[in-house]
Amino acid sequence: MEGLRIPGPTPCPPKILRAMAKQMINHRGPEFAQILHDVTAKLKQLFQTKGDLYLLTCSGTGGLEAAVVNTLSPGDEVLSVSIGFFGERFAELAEQFGAEVIPLHYEWGKAADIDDIRRALQNEPKIKAVLVTHNETSTGVTNDLRAISSLVKEFDKLLLVDAISSLGSIELPVDEWHCDVTVTASQKGWMVPPGMAMVSLSPEAWRAHAEAKMPRYTWDFSKAKSYLERGQTPWTPAVSIAFALQVALDMMLKEGLANIIARHARVGKAAREGVKSLGLSVFPKEKYASNTVTAVATKDRLDVKKLLKIMREEHGIVLSGGQQKLEGKIFRIGHLGWVDEDDIKGIISALKVALPKASA
Ligand SMILES: Cc1ncc(COP(=O)(O)O)c(C=O)c1O
Repeated sequence: MEGLRIPGPTPCPPKILRAMAKQMINHRGPEFAQILHDVTAKLKQLFQTKGDLYLLTCSGTGGLEAAVVNTLSPGDEVLSVSIGFFGERFAELAEQFGAEVIPLHYEWGKAADIDDIRRALQNEPKIKAVLVTHNETSTGVTNDLRAISSLVKEFDKLLLVDAISSLGSIELPVDEWHCDVTVTASQKGWMVPPGMAMVSLSPEAWRAHAEAKMPRYTWDFSKAKSYLERGQTPWTPAVSIAFALQVALDMMLKEGLANIIARHARVGKAAREGVKSLGLSVFPKEKYASNTVTAVATKDRLDVKKLLKIMREEHGIVLSGGQQKLEGKIFRIGHLGWVDEDDIKGIISALKVALPKASA
């Protein structure tokens, strides 16, 4: 459905969907090996990394789990820089595996503050790693990852990045910004259905991996590495997602990363301007507003559930509500992947009609 405007899964171009309809192949045969090598090499171009990169058959959360269990040991202190629902999930996950999580958690809608991070790293010299969400999908906020990563490296800590809703859409040169483990997932800006997480690793991440003692099996990067050398994944991969990725990555490389990032910036701006033209406001400060998801602050008399229903049933446009404590307080427009300014125009026109009907 092209009216699907949630922040993932995102709509997929027909060419990509058609690729998924292909017959199965042997995932341990030469044809799949060629696809795996091709997809991995192209993803590295878009991650802007010379490090290692693996495809894991799971959703984004599996990729975050892989980042944690492959680099940390129970009892390791980690600084969780969280600005919303997904940041808190990242922290919870690390805690479940025995990390000592030091929370630096912000009010939802705010971005992380570099001075706070500096203070936290100064106060707790034993911190081994920093967990950070680049683009917090629940609040529509993009952190200043460039500044955060340079600070984290000043303190010589490991940086684990949730880039699930940013990579491939918002600027994130993985090597230049010294991200040690960087995670994204197929259903976001990559224009592919859910099913695979893509994770890159720096040499420092491999060094941490050699000492890491958290329990791991399915997501063990040593296994992923030795199988990739043979053109395979350790376990049966989502073969159809690999077919889709191959087509999607060709489309993305043809458009060019700089053009994709510029398109998302234009689309993000159009969404914010459109929201304001309706008399609504963008939930976070615009300085931090995301170019992949716009969180819209609602007014007291607006019934968000009703608005989403009207948009879905009368306009064929599916938007998202707020998550957890933001339920009823915001709604979100997803604009990542296969999207342009005309899509935003359509959403804003539909909202103009729907908003009065959803207000008490
Ligand atoms: C920033 C961020 N982190 C984590 C996740 C969780 O990913 P998944 O639902 O693919 O496991 C999402 C999904 O929306 C996300 O946007």
